[in-house]
Amino acid sequence: MTDTTDITDTADRVKPVAFPQDRTCPYHPPAAYDPLRATRPLARITLFDGRPAWLVTGHTAARRLLADPRLSTDRTRHRFPATSARFAAVRDRRTALLGVDDPEHRAQRKMVLPEFTLKRAAALRPRIQRIVDERLDAMIAQGPPAELVTAFALPVPSMVICALLGVPYGDHDFFEEQSRRLLRGPTAADTQNARDRLEAYLGELIDRKQQAPGTGLLDDLVRCQLNEGAVDRDEVVALAIILLVAGHETTANMISLGTYTLLTNPRRLTELREDPALLPGAVEELMRVLSIADGLLRMATEDIEVDGQTIRAGDGVVFATSVINRDESVYPEPDTLDWHRPARHHVAFGFGIHQCLGQNLARAELEIALHTLFDRLPTLRLAAPAEEIPFKPGDTIQGMLELPVTW
Ligand code: HEM
Repeated sequence: MTDTTDITDTADRVKPVAFPQDRTCPYHPPAAYDPLRATRPLARITLFDGRPAWLVTGHTAARRLLADPRLSTDRTRHRFPATSARFAAVRDRRTALLGVDDPEHRAQRKMVLPEFTLKRAAALRPRIQRIVDERLDAMIAQGPPAELVTAFALPVPSMVICALLGVPYGDHDFFEEQSRRLLRGPTAADTQNARDRLEAYLGELIDRKQQAPGTGLLDDLVRCQLNEGAVDRDEVVALAIILLVAGHETTANMISLGTYTLLTNPRRLTELREDPALLPGAVEELMRVLSIADGLLRMATEDIEVDGQTIRAGDGVVFATSVINRDESVYPEPDTLDWHRPARHHVAFGFGIHQCLGQNLARAELEIALHTLFDRLPTLRLAAPAEEIPFKPGDTIQGMLELPVTW
C-alpha cells in the first residue's frame, strides 16, 4: 500500500486546510474553505488525527468519483480515513449499506429498496401530514414560545421512521439519545457505548419480532430474510441501526436548519409563501445550500487520475458537499438562495451506488413539514437573536442544537 504522505508530494504546494472545521454561519461553509473554491476539483487536507487526505471540491469530479468503484466505502479497511475520533472509534463495527462495497452492498440495498421508492414516499404523504399536524397542534397548544427542535423538527422524522420500520415510538427518548451520542458524543468511549446500546436494543427488538412479527420493514426483513436464512441476525441489526439513525437525525437537522434559514432570509420566505408551487424547488435549493452531510468518506483501492493529479491506492478521499454544491461553474452565484434555479443535481444526498436511500422520503417530509409550519404560523419568528442561536459543530451532521421560536 502506498504511504499516504504521497499526497503532499503529488498535489500542489498550497498548505493543506484542516478538515472539518466549524461553520460560523450555520448555512454557509466555514470561511476557511473559501480558498478551496479556487483550486477545484481537488485539494489537500489534514484530518483531525494529522493524516493527509484528498478533498474533492469540484462538482463534475465529485459525481465521477462518487460513482467510481475504485473508491471503497468499507470503513474496516486498514487506514480508512476518519473525520473525528468518534467516527474512528466505531469504524471497525459492522455498518450496513454505507459501510459495504458491491456486491454485498447491492444485495443489502435490494432487500430494503421497495420501502423507499418514490411511489412509497408518495403513499406515505397522508401519514406524514397527520404526524406534522399533530405535532403542530401540540406545539401551538403549549406556546408561544417553543423550542422547535424538540417540539417539531426531531419528533416528525422520528415518528415517520418508527412507523416505517416498526420500531415503537415510545422508545424515542432512548434511541434519539443514543443516536445523538453516536454522532456527537463527547468522547470515543461514549460513542462506542452508544453503539453498543443501540445494537443491544435493536437486537432485542429483532428477537421479539422473530417470535411475533408485526408490520414494518424490520418485521418484513425478519420474516422474508432472517427466518429464511438469507441473512444473519447481526446483519439485520446493522441494517436497523443505519435505517433508524439516518432516518431521523438527518431530516431533523434539515427541518431545523431549513426553518432557521428561511426565518433569516425573509424575502425568500415571502416568495415561498406567495407561491407554494415553488416548494419542491426550494427544498432542493435548501438541500444544496445547507449541505448538512458535509464530508463523505472513501478510500482509493487503486490509483485514480483526476485532472492531472493522482489519487494513490490507500489514500483517503473526502467529499466536501458544501463546497461541491457551490461550484460556480454549475450554480451561478452559488451563495445566493434561488428557488428558481435547477438545483436537483446537487450532491447533498450523495451520488452513485450509495446515494441516499431515504431521499424520496426526506423530500416528502421536508415539503410537508416546512409548508405546514409556515402555513399554520404566518407570524413565526426567532425568539432570540439569530447569531446567538447555537448550531452543531463541523465534525458531525449540520443542524441547529436548538431553535427558539415564537409567533
Ligand atoms: C434530508 C435528510 C437526509 C440527508 C441530507 C441525507 C444524506 C445522505 C447522504 C449524503 C448519503 C450518502 C453518504 C455517502 O455516500 O457517504 C446518504 C446515504 C444514506 N441515507 Fe440519507 N440522508 C437523509 C435522509 C435519510 C432518510 C430519511 C433515510 C431513511 C432511512 C436515509 C437513509 C440513508 C441510508 C440507508 C444511506 C446509505 C445508502 C447506501 O449506502 O446505499 N437518509 N444519506
